[in-house]
Amino acid sequence: MKRVLLLIGFVLANALQLSAQDLNFNEGWRFLNEKAEGAESPEYDDSEWREVTLPHDWAIEGPFDVKYNARAGGLPFHGTGWYRKEFTLPKGARDKVIRLEFEGAMYNAHVYINGKFVGNRPYGYIGFEYDISQYLNFGEGTNVVAVRLSPEDLSSRWYPGAGIYRSVWLKMDEKIHVDHWGTYITTPTVGPKKAVVQNETVIINRFSEDKTIVVKQEYFAPSGNKVAEGEEELLVKAGTEQTSALFVTIENPAIWGLENPHLYTQETSLWSEGKEMDRYSTKFGIREIAFDKDGFYLNSEKLRFQGVCLHHDNGPLGAAVNRRAIQRKLQIMKDMGVNAVRTSHNPPSRELLELCDEMGILVQDEAFDVWKLAKVPNGYNKFFEEWSEIDLADMIRRDRNHPSVVMWSIGNEILEQGKKEIGWKLAKQLHEVCVQMDPSRPTTAGFNYYSAPYDNNMAQQVDIAGMNYKPSMYSEVRKNYPYLPTYGSETSSVTSSRGVYHLPIEKYSTHESLQVTSYDIIGPPWAYPPDIEFYFQEQNPHSMGEFMWTGFDYLGEPTPYGGKDNSTNGYWNADWPARSSYFGAVDLSGFPKDRFYLYQSQWTSKPMIHVLPHWNWEGMEGQEIPVYCYTNCDEVELFVNGKSMGRKVKGKDKTNIIVDFLRYEPKSFDSPYRLSWMVPYEAGNIKVIGYKNGEKINEKSIFTAGKPYQLALEVDREKILADGVDLAYITVKVLDKEGNVCPLADNKVSFIVEGVGRLEAVGNGDPTSTASFQADNRKAFNGLCLAILKASKEKGEISLTAQSKGLKKASISIISE
Ligand code: GAL
Repeated sequence: MKRVLLLIGFVLANALQLSAQDLNFNEGWRFLNEKAEGAESPEYDDSEWREVTLPHDWAIEGPFDVKYNARAGGLPFHGTGWYRKEFTLPKGARDKVIRLEFEGAMYNAHVYINGKFVGNRPYGYIGFEYDISQYLNFGEGTNVVAVRLSPEDLSSRWYPGAGIYRSVWLKMDEKIHVDHWGTYITTPTVGPKKAVVQNETVIINRFSEDKTIVVKQEYFAPSGNKVAEGEEELLVKAGTEQTSALFVTIENPAIWGLENPHLYTQETSLWSEGKEMDRYSTKFGIREIAFDKDGFYLNSEKLRFQGVCLHHDNGPLGAAVNRRAIQRKLQIMKDMGVNAVRTSHNPPSRELLELCDEMGILVQDEAFDVWKLAKVPNGYNKFFEEWSEIDLADMIRRDRNHPSVVMWSIGNEILEQGKKEIGWKLAKQLHEVCVQMDPSRPTTAGFNYYSAPYDNNMAQQVDIAGMNYKPSMYSEVRKNYPYLPTYGSETSSVTSSRGVYHLPIEKYSTHESLQVTSYDIIGPPWAYPPDIEFYFQEQNPHSMGEFMWTGFDYLGEPTPYGGKDNSTNGYWNADWPARSSYFGAVDLSGFPKDRFYLYQSQWTSKPMIHVLPHWNWEGMEGQEIPVYCYTNCDEVELFVNGKSMGRKVKGKDKTNIIVDFLRYEPKSFDSPYRLSWMVPYEAGNIKVIGYKNGEKINEKSIFTAGKPYQLALEVDREKILADGVDLAYITVKVLDKEGNVCPLADNKVSFIVEGVGRLEAVGNGDPTSTASFQADNRKAFNGLCLAILKASKEKGEISLTAQSKGLKKASISIISE
């Protein structure tokens, strides 16, 4: 990424400096969500079009409607979208190289400059850029960039979003410059005393004469101190490119790891005839990854993936990229004990990778959900033949300097698994692209068939075979393929709705309410409780760990409601308004479900304890209620209104869960990973006390809540940046007079925002709500809802008041600076 010298609110004509730089090009666009004949022409009148700032997702604006496919979120993501932006360039820019970079446009972008077609890029998840120098006017003349997007219906198995949903950059360079994603840094030697940092930099000479170019590389430690440098002189022939290759040694390196994710910077400068022609900076980490049949190693330490699969949407904000939204998502995942993310099933945003670098989270970077055989009628398979190798190579070129990225995935549940003739050949071909682009990382894929991909020699084409939903096969694969490294690339897929408990617990995965119980045992036919995966991971120490499906709920794929793969629109909409997933350990608004704590109990060691369900069962007095406790303590005692219901030892005393779990024996589900009691209901409170080595460590109580009485607000950060994009997430709780969350409350809450920010979106985590995410009010869902505030560029205070009929209102203020 080039240094951004000028970020905000620029007027190109007079503010642009003529040194090499990237200009953020997100502001000042106009947008129309329909076909527009001739809109690529500079003369076209777009004055009636809406003004928008990128990143933008038009589909999240809604409305939700049964006429749109629930599988893709029930939102209007298909059709035509046009974006136009007018800009001027100074006269002096005439002899520069000017490129326009799109980090991602959903879907099938056609880009025009001043009416001329510049290029087409179908895959919405990949970034691309064009050299637009030849199409531009300088000085007095204006320029128009026009982008037509044409996402199709039935083109995705989840909500893809729609629009220019990632950032756009205008880059102005001298005729000698570093190529797009032109640096490649690896650390072939990593040790406490020294590290070798190797880099390859692609240099372009667009002059019509040969040029001698001096390439300088300077290295800066996380502290900012310069720690190494290198220099190379190259003769680059007219109109060609050359790769400079250098290595330097860094003494006593600060090594990138999960606890201390130290980042270095490589500052590249290109010099010709004594003049600096370009400057390009690249962040990287010094770390070593390795794997063998017995596991995965980071800096020589064996590490198991405590991973989550994540789709790319940011809940109520849709697919539009927002750094803070992603940071919050990752922080919540880290709090659950997550150390790895699988970017299911597509290249992620740059921001996600930068944040994983900074936060110490490993990434499995995944390219595709489909190859040639279609999963949906209008999917990427249409473009696979022409684009897959280019898209895959570009993903790797873009992402290979991120220390967080530890594997390239060439595909998820690719249907060619079942095709003996072509599966392994395509896998080999894509694997080879990865090796060519980056031999420093292993390749993988998520296989969900057994035993076809192994029999068909397809799983053997990747370095590490990912197994989706096959924990009971881990040992068999180990026996039959003793040298094949494996892990659970997709696991569990249990479904639940936050705060929903059906009694008796439903026997089948669906329920007339279109919600799913939160006892964490229900799922579609291929799913199984997290406990089963924990068990098989323990039985198979060679397995590198798991990536559970999914960390967060996402828009679309409302399984167990809706339908099946390869079905038609109508089938998926049969259970309308179920419109977003139930798979998350965290709901669409970022509120943890109970399952969050089940994973936390397995993946973290800081003492924690969690108890469920809520304790508001009026009318069920005397009836037996299953009470579960998730903890990393060894023993727990449960009290109901002060009376002990017994002390139980985790992993020893049988749990008592009475649900038939149909697919796994024994029928009465028993788990060493949770504790449970059946207790007759009486209003009051339940309390769990956790013990470790016999010593009381922690406790948690839940009280029977009274009637909704008041609102309470909690903000995630009291200070945000006045940069026009930063966000504050405010949790709204409906409380009784004593301050207990009312677990069934669905009061409608209205919001008033004052000061230097605005209400960006609202949500509540209800997967069946068709209310707009952009309204100024939201009903609580099981006691909670969410307001997301966005900063403006003005510094000052932003205040939010939440009110609801009959309840005491609440206000909160934050500083934007
Ligand atoms: C998997 C698939 C995921 C998601 C999941 C739901 O088979 O790879 O994308 O559909 O099932 O359980």
